[in-house]
Amino acid sequence: MPDYIPIRKSQALHYMAAPLFIKNAADEFILYKTENAEMDMARFQSDRCPQLYIPNEHRAALYAELQRSYHILLAKRMKAGDIQGVKAAICDIVQEALQEPLGHNLQTLPETIDIVYRGYASTTELLKHISGFRYGGTTLVEHVVNTLLLILNYCIFHGLRETETKALTLGALLHDVGLSRIPERIIQSDDRLSKLDFKIYTTHPVLGHEIIRAHMTVDAAVAMMALEHHEELDGSGYPHGQRDLSFGGRLLGIVDTFEQLTFNEKTHRQRREPFGALKLIQDEMLREGNYDKEIFRGLCLSLVGKSRFA
Ligand SMILES: [Fe+2]
Ligand SMILES: [Fe+2]
Repeated sequence: MPDYIPIRKSQALHYMAAPLFIKNAADEFILYKTENAEMDMARFQSDRCPQLYIPNEHRAALYAELQRSYHILLAKRMKAGDIQGVKAAICDIVQEALQEPLGHNLQTLPETIDIVYRGYASTTELLKHISGFRYGGTTLVEHVVNTLLLILNYCIFHGLRETETKALTLGALLHDVGLSRIPERIIQSDDRLSKLDFKIYTTHPVLGHEIIRAHMTVDAAVAMMALEHHEELDGSGYPHGQRDLSFGGRLLGIVDTFEQLTFNEKTHRQRREPFGALKLIQDEMLREGNYDKEIFRGLCLSLVGKSRFA
């Protein structure tokens, strides 16, 4: 592990407690901002936003500070109804949470869910914005945040209890965490995967389940959603070809597919409008018995409900 770690330039403002360093031409680290001092943004900008570094030994404490700062920002944006800003903040939080060391970083996500839940539960106005906007983060982060918002919309529309809603949304947020253990070249590949690479890819639900169980004290249903999200009711899914699936696994299976069809540009099918994606799921997957019809109907109603507010 290096002694100094680069930080994202967009985050420079969020580091108050941390000393920040720059690297000079001789590759030496020079103090740029002292501990417990605000960042001088005018100076930072006039220096053309140089790459800043934090000392590795401060990393865990700094991460907590960063997430706290994001959470304050997220709560503010929720209150202001700034949905683009909300999504950007969640994407930043998730992106940080998926950095190593994973175990420590994942602990802050239940708090993120609390903030998002409080904001959404108190205003239906925000529901109309759930789909139809994009954020320029990484595809995986954007995918899990979209999945979270779709499941939250479903839960609120159908009046699910708060504890169940929080578990389901946290499960959505974490469902692909196992992909952090899959080689990047497989995740980033734009081509169809070879048989061997696909086999490696299909281990991500098991890996995700293990990561959540090992690092988080959350409802077992949350880890189960990660394990089951690629299983299908007819036994044709992976990793175990299981037919008997939890409610969270069945709901997430449909929402995950819907999200990929509508948002994810890396899917090997053409990207679809929401209605076209639902029709495809109905025509190709429900008839073959892959997915739960009742939950599919519930998802359609929650999406139509959303447009009723629009
Ligand atoms: Fe997945
Ligand atoms: Fe997924």
